[in-house]
Amino acid sequence: MPQHRSWQNTNDRYGALSKALHWITALGIIAMIPLGKIANEAAYDTAEALAQKAWLFQIHKTLGVALFFLALIRIGWMLSQHKPAPLHPERRLETFLAELVHWLLYGALALVPLSGWIHHAASAGFAPILWPFGQGLPFVPVDLTVSEAFGALHGLSVKLLVGSLVLHIAGAVKHAVIDKDDTLARMVPGKTVTPLAEAPHPDSRLALVATALIWVAAGGLSFALENRHGPDAGAAAPAVETVEPVAVTVAPDAQAELWQVQEGTLTLSIRQFGQAVGGAFADWQAQIAFDPEVSEGVMGHVAVDIAIGSLTLGTVTDQALGADYFDAANHPGARFSGDIFAVADGFEARGTLDLRGVTLPLTLPFALEISEGVGTASGKVVLDRRGFGIGDSMTDEGQLGFEVEVGFDLIARQP
Ligand code: HEM
Ligand code: HEM
Repeated sequence: MPQHRSWQNTNDRYGALSKALHWITALGIIAMIPLGKIANEAAYDTAEALAQKAWLFQIHKTLGVALFFLALIRIGWMLSQHKPAPLHPERRLETFLAELVHWLLYGALALVPLSGWIHHAASAGFAPILWPFGQGLPFVPVDLTVSEAFGALHGLSVKLLVGSLVLHIAGAVKHAVIDKDDTLARMVPGKTVTPLAEAPHPDSRLALVATALIWVAAGGLSFALENRHGPDAGAAAPAVETVEPVAVTVAPDAQAELWQVQEGTLTLSIRQFGQAVGGAFADWQAQIAFDPEVSEGVMGHVAVDIAIGSLTLGTVTDQALGADYFDAANHPGARFSGDIFAVADGFEARGTLDLRGVTLPLTLPFALEISEGVGTASGKVVLDRRGFGIGDSMTDEGQLGFEVEVGFDLIARQP
């Protein structure tokens, strides 16, 4: 029999390091499951509730990432170690099931936090991991579909983890209470166990293959379900008809100077938890009357009508449209109208913005180039959300920036 130090596994029992790693990860995992559930189900209808939910997620993610690295250490250690022999090798099915569950748990130890981490890294503006190493991951694009697919995988792998854990704990209890054998004792620090007769190890390959198949099926299922629901299934935005981001000019009293908008985008960017979150309104219309020949004073007029419900804002669209923020249900439209003037370095539309029931003066600087009857314009302006009562109770700029950058570009045809 080879000599083993007490911190290494033997054929009869787990070593001190395996035991320590087992119980630290067990404690961490068992704490993380209710924490994830509570954070996930916490309301976010008010700004205070959102801040609280974000805080729960910060703890969940930070602990989860720590557990991921611990899992890697644990798996590395396990691979370097002898696996204690089964106590009842003649009970072939039971031994197989115990081993299958062990492999499923090892898989879950790595895949549950990793899928959560990718879900997080692929989205912007989520509650951050409390560490200085950034929130993204190499090779993981910030993309809603990627984020939601890994979110689904996180949820499904948690279910597999919980199922395996129930079987695992039931097995441990059965061995302690019914079989009254050394199964639990050999994993518990300080307990002595009866040495086993040297017995051949059962073949692990079948259990490993079965585990791999279960994990592949779980991954395939979560991606398939996610695709069936479409990438936006999780975003409970108010039902709006989103249209292609092409604004069509409506000209009720068709004047000669009305420009025909061919295409354009209207974007929005805000900092949430220190990260820029960008989005766009898909549905808006601009009416532009403009005479480039005017050399002084008002050159024209612009009116832009925006369907607030057509906003998509990263993974936080539904929060943004909620009562505390844009309140799309009560204020479905916003309107900017103003007169156009030439200024030293371009143009300005000076007028008012009517948003969420508040009308405030706004000057929108923009650049314009006209070539062969086609005008290309772009501009941006920074608003203070507090002026419009958006997210009023989010008073911490570190959580939600006060400044909102609104940008547009459009191509319009001269009448
Ligand atoms: C109250 C909770 C738990 C109890 C009572 C328990 C009990 C045990 C026992 C008695 C063993 C040794 C089995 C044997 O010798 O055949 C074991 C092994 C194992 N446990 Fe747990 N466990 C618990 C929680 C967890 C959790 C939360 C995880 C991981 C997510 C986990 C993962 C494992 C793994 C992977 C092994 C196999 C170790 C190896 O052979 O490499 N356990 N557990
Ligand atoms: C040991 C690790 C982990 C466990 C046991 C765990 C467990 C859970 C559980 C039980 C939920 C609730 C699922 C539901 O109610 O459907 C959840 C949700 C979530 N977890 Fe984890 N988690 C772990 C690690 C992580 C990590 C490392 C991150 C990110 C860095 C993360 C991010 C999330 C997110 C964002 C959600 C919400 C899912 C959604 O958007 O629907 N988790 N987690």
